[in-house]
Amino acid sequence: MAGSKSGPEDCVTNDEFFNKMRDTIEHELRDEGEGTSHVFVIFGASGDLASKKIYPTLWCLFRDNLLPHKTHFIGYARSNLTVQDIKKKCLPYMKVKPGEDKKVDAFFKLNQYLAGSYDKTSDFSKLNRLIEEKGSANRLFYLALPPSVFEKVALNIKAVCMSNGDTWTRVVVEKPFGHDLESSNHLSTHLASLFNENQLYRIDHYLGKEMVQNLMVLRFGNRMFSNIWNRDNIASVVISFKEPFGTQGRGGYFDEFGIIRDVMQNHLLQILTLTAMEKPPTTEAEDIRNEKVKVLRCICPLSMDQVVLGQYTGNPDGKGAEKEGYLDDPTVPKGSITPTFATAVLYIKSERWDGVPFILKCGKALNERKAEVRVQFRDVAGDIFPAGEVKRNELVIRVQPNEAVYLKMMTKTPGLTIECEETELDLSYRNRYEGITMPDAYERLLLDVFLGSQIHFVRSDELFEAWRIFTPLLHQIEKEKPKPLPYVYGSRGPPEADALSSTHGFKYTGTYRWNKDKMTNSKY
Ligand code: NDP
Ligand code: BG6
Repeated sequence: MAGSKSGPEDCVTNDEFFNKMRDTIEHELRDEGEGTSHVFVIFGASGDLASKKIYPTLWCLFRDNLLPHKTHFIGYARSNLTVQDIKKKCLPYMKVKPGEDKKVDAFFKLNQYLAGSYDKTSDFSKLNRLIEEKGSANRLFYLALPPSVFEKVALNIKAVCMSNGDTWTRVVVEKPFGHDLESSNHLSTHLASLFNENQLYRIDHYLGKEMVQNLMVLRFGNRMFSNIWNRDNIASVVISFKEPFGTQGRGGYFDEFGIIRDVMQNHLLQILTLTAMEKPPTTEAEDIRNEKVKVLRCICPLSMDQVVLGQYTGNPDGKGAEKEGYLDDPTVPKGSITPTFATAVLYIKSERWDGVPFILKCGKALNERKAEVRVQFRDVAGDIFPAGEVKRNELVIRVQPNEAVYLKMMTKTPGLTIECEETELDLSYRNRYEGITMPDAYERLLLDVFLGSQIHFVRSDELFEAWRIFTPLLHQIEKEKPKPLPYVYGSRGPPEADALSSTHGFKYTGTYRWNKDKMTNSKY
């Protein structure tokens, strides 16, 4: 088990933290019967997602004793592989600490691999027989597959691999869920003809991140926010995703999608719904998802004038890969106009949010790694201090890296003056929760599938609304082929994006300074 007590005496230790999680899981699984096994089938077991994410996540859950006792894993793909081959592919991505080799062996002993095609029902019958060998078992099917085979696989699962009797079947689907409204509706209709919505788990891994899950608690567990969370007090909300690296050989895949489909239409829009939704009647999945859909329904489809698109160019002064622009990636088609950066301004036409810009900003090959929600408050009314001294408050919820919530606020400059200066109330997780290993997004989400909790998964009507908002813009881009604005690898993106944000009311003063060294060196 990871780590032990390392924080101050009265802090929760990592062991206590994990024990509490285990208790919760055991409690939730109690109703499923002592004799019931679980079989987790990974379709596309030979692929990248499986070896980089799914197997390593299952390993972490197994290592930390978070999985139900009798859980077996079956990898399924077309290639002729063995469990040993799978192990070799996955090991570089698995977090294995010294002394855990025996546990790794125990994990792979619970694994089997079956080679089969995605369209032959007879191969799925073989898979079914393998599952049946485990006795009465709940079945989880993870489709780590290209969308081109989703439908065939879903049909075959339904035809011969469903559980019966007292056990359940759940199907986990990874994005992309279509590439526009029409294709997404087609896929949704197909899946709905085979499975109930409560059997379908559409993964958006951002919904598994600690701070994204925290949005509900911050908003609805704090009296101080509820009265100010509206158009009367909030000037703008900026939701950003920044990565400091480019496509680097993955450009072929990325080029088909572009940054809007890759990040904005799913991850950022999901964060927006949690930031803007009304308080649900309960914390039940359906109540929360109903509220999220309502927010989306209040957003009009995006038009070109609400968007700035960019594409990165090489930085001649940069190191290694930074010298290469998107078009220098040999896997990117020549002359591609696919955006690697986008800023879009959305408005939610509701009583709470009318007129407040929600600025979504995402890009590759930028100056830093960062995902955050920045709520910027309106100017102080009837300001009595010298003009320009008082700056706007901002509440920042930093999703990554280094989870934090900080409130940028004004204070009196200490000493013999009554001048104002900017400071912050700061909840930095690495200080407050020192020594705790946070579970990764996929760990939380896969556990949720075992537990049958759909809170952090995307419902089909959310998906419909998300595509409704973005499809007209995406089609217009495909038709008119506007050239994205160039920005240098390692920069903050095209300056036109800042101009768009500023036109819509986001104010940047550049005056705030965070006293990082003081914060990290302090001993409480
Ligand atoms: P800043 O005032 O420096 O930045 C505010 C916002 O302005 C950012 O969203 C940034 O966005 C944007 N911005 C930056 N340059 C421009 C520009 N030229 N034109 C328009 N917009 C611009 O405050 P921050 O809240 O970003 O804090 C500064 C630093 O302090 C950060 O690194 C932050 O992480 C750190 N800090 C850390 C805390 C903690 O760890 N607990 C607590 C408080 C602060 P963009 O993303 O586009 O660059
Ligand atoms: C994926 C995108 O959904 O999210 C990738 O397809 C992106 O392009 C990734 O890099 C970012 O995830 P994270 O968890 O590393 O922020």
